[in-house]
Order: sequence, then C-alpha cells, then structure tokens
Amino acid sequence: MYTHEDLSRLQAQSLKMQSWIRQQTFSPESRKTLRRFSSWEVSELIFKINQSTFRGRLAAEPDLPGGEVEPDGRQRWFSLDEINELRRRMKINRKSLMPPRPAGKRAFRVAVANFKGGAGKSTVALHFAHAAALDGYRVLLVDFDPQATLSHSMGLTDVAEDYTVWGIMARDLIRETDRMNAASVAAASGTALPRRQIPASIRDLGLDKLRHGDFIKPTAWSTIDIIPSCANAAFVEFASAQYRHLNPEWSFFAAVSRYLDGLPDEDYDLIIFDCPPAIGYQSMNAVFAADMLYIPSGPGYWEYDSTTSFIGQLAEALEDLAAFGPTFPAGKMSLPKAFVDIRFLMTRYEPGNDLHRAMFEAFRKVFGAHVAQNPIEMTRAVEQSGRFLSSVYEIDYRDMTRETWRRARASFDRAYEEFKGSVIAAWDKI
Ligand SMILES: Nc1ncnc2c1ncn2[C@@H]1O[C@H](COP(=O)(O)OP(=O)(O)OP(=O)(O)O)[C@@H](O)[C@H]1O
Ligand SMILES: [Mg+2]
Repeated sequence: MYTHEDLSRLQAQSLKMQSWIRQQTFSPESRKTLRRFSSWEVSELIFKINQSTFRGRLAAEPDLPGGEVEPDGRQRWFSLDEINELRRRMKINRKSLMPPRPAGKRAFRVAVANFKGGAGKSTVALHFAHAAALDGYRVLLVDFDPQATLSHSMGLTDVAEDYTVWGIMARDLIRETDRMNAASVAAASGTALPRRQIPASIRDLGLDKLRHGDFIKPTAWSTIDIIPSCANAAFVEFASAQYRHLNPEWSFFAAVSRYLDGLPDEDYDLIIFDCPPAIGYQSMNAVFAADMLYIPSGPGYWEYDSTTSFIGQLAEALEDLAAFGPTFPAGKMSLPKAFVDIRFLMTRYEPGNDLHRAMFEAFRKVFGAHVAQNPIEMTRAVEQSGRFLSSVYEIDYRDMTRETWRRARASFDRAYEEFKGSVIAAWDKI
C-alpha cells in the first residue's frame, strides 16, 4: 500500500534530479543566462537587412555598439541590449528599425489557451515572447499554469506562491471587499450591501501590502518580465471557491485584468498569458483579461475533438459571466466579455503527413479565416532545445545541425509574423 508519504518520497528523489539538470543546463549558479547573437543573426534574421549593409554601417559609425569578436575572429556577437541600442540608433534607407506600436494604447494582451494538455501552449507562448523581444517589443509573460513550464523555461524556479496569480487574486479579493464595504458604509440608503468579512487567515498573509511591481520578476531577457507560477499555486482552484463564498459580489474572473489595468501603459508592448490545460479560476482570469485568444492545437483528430469541446466549454463559461450583467464591477473590461480576435494555430504539424494536411484543411473549413495560415512545424530542434529548457531562439545554432535550427526558427518566425500582423490589426481596436 502507498500513501501520501510515498508520493512525497518519490517527489524528493525527483527534485534532486531536477536541480542536477538545472545545474547542467543553465550555469554553475543554476541561473539562466542569455547568449549573444551573431552579426549574421542580427542583420538577416533580426533586422532583416543585408549582412554587408550591417557590417558597413558598423564600420562607418564606430560609436555604435560593436559586439564582441569571437576567439577565431570572424563573427561579432551582440547582446540583446546592444541589439536594442542598434535598433534605436540605426535607420536603414531612412526607415526606423523600431517595431510598430499604435500611439496612446496600453499593452496588447494575448491568452494562449486550450484545455487539451500538450497542445503546445507553453511552447508557443515562450517562442512568441522570444520572437517579440528580438523584434524590439517589451514583453510581460503571465504564467497561469501551476505546472509552471513557462516560468521554468524562463529560468524562474524558486517562486513563492504569494507572488503568483494566486497572490494577485487573493490581494484583489481583499481590496475589492474593502472597497465594497467602504462604498456600502458611504451609501446612506437601505440598499447598501451587507459588510463582508475577510478572515484573518487571508488578511494576515499581508498580500494587500504588496506593491504592484512585487509580482513582476525580471528574466535573463532584459526586455521580458514574468509573473511566474509554481506548483503551490494549484491551490488557487480550491481557494477561489472559498473566496467567492466570502464575497459573492467579488468579480473573481476580473482580478488579473484589474491588476494589469494598474500597470502604466508604456511599461510593456505585449502581455502574453500561458494557460493551464483546464477551464478554472486561473484560465478564466487569463481569458477575461485577454484582448485576443490564441488557441493552439495539435494536428490529430483527438486534438481537433478536444479543441471543439474547449471552445464550447469556454462559450458556456463566458455566457455564465455575462449573466452577472453589464454593471457588475469587472475593472476596465466590460461584460459580456468580447475578444478583438480569436485565432487557431496548428502546432506539431508535419507538412509531408497526409493526415496532418487533411486535419489542417478540416480546421480551415470549420474555422475559416480564424485559422493561422502558418502552422508550427514539428521539429527536432524544439525537442532538443526544450531539453535545455530553452527556445530555438535561445539555443546557439552551432549546437545543432544548422539546417535543423534554421527550419525550426523559420517555422516560428512565420507563425510569429502572422501573429504580429493579427496583433497590430487588433491593437487599434482596444
Ligand atoms: N513544434 C514542436 N515540435 C516538436 N515538439 C514540440 C513542438 N511543440 C511542442 N512540442 C513538444 O510537445 C510537448 C508539449 O508542449 P507544451 O508543453 O508546449 O504543451 P502545453 O499545451 O503547454 O502542455 P500543458 O497542457 O501540459 O501545459 C513538449 O514536450 C514540447 O517540447
Ligand atoms: Mg503548458
């Protein structure tokens, strides 16, 4: 017979192995670092200019950041900060290298969601964040999944649950309840709401004293921050049910949206949410806060089946929220929840596989223009880089066959360019 103690023992063994893997893959201090990018990558893949044009400009303007020359002396290698400085200071044919962003808008929010496990959500969120950062955008990631795949991939492993989406939700409950109680006292008539009590066990966590920025952690990418997750945050799903009971007027689904409303518009360009493979309190917060839904799905029949169920379940859950009515306090988002765009993205796609092609056609027939034209191909490079807790953008192309790396990167680049097009078209509408 086995009990929780046996499970704990097995986990302890596994944790030892995990920390060993991290030491092997990151650095001796097991801190993730970001590599430099070669002049070939910076010119052709990042700025999309001719390599000789780039080299010429560097030679002509010696006060531009020059990168580091590798020991055998051929390529120059640039840090992300140097790339961003070059982007700010260089113009090519009088054109700026800065990525487009509509004036006067807050950051654009995208939820990568599907309740099918292993659909590729975390892989897509990670790669789009890295592609966007290399494109010059400032990105905030929010990990809504206690599996914390995205947090681990971004190098965050020691995360306390107070600083996850759970902390944001519990803090929101306290703040919203206090606000409602104050409003209730202020209201002179008998229509005032009953005072709601938050038990000491929740107040004493001190979450209401945390500042906005306390939830946001820096990463090895200077232009990507993250609100991470951790296994203990799985507790959200139990706790939230209790919280709703404490204050039935609390718009539990709008907690993260309200939190994000409090960020200065200029701090980030893109906010990307990685969702858990479930419809629950965390994923509802992600979906509610999002301007655009990005739904990845594998190319198999069961994945199609599951994606179909997912959108049905989501429709029902959002319809339930709509029943709260347009005057329910939901921050700056209004009810019923509306998305500026909904996109489906096929992942782990093999162009040579007849079944995959047939499935892609079926998706297009059913979901029409909502289907991204550029599926993400199944590649060894993703598996291989994933083993090092990295994206294909992070992995050094000299560490694998150049062709394998280029194919994988090209597939993500195409999917990212299409994603960016959708974002820019939708951004003006928020
Ligand atoms: N394009 C790809 N090529 C090869 N392997 C891939 C690709 N995309 C994803 N994978 C692999 O598939 C697995 C599941 O991917 P991922 O973790 O992104 O899915 P997920 O939807 O986030 O899963 P979960 O629902 O558990 O959060 C991972 O091992 C990942 O490396
Ligand atoms: Mg995931």
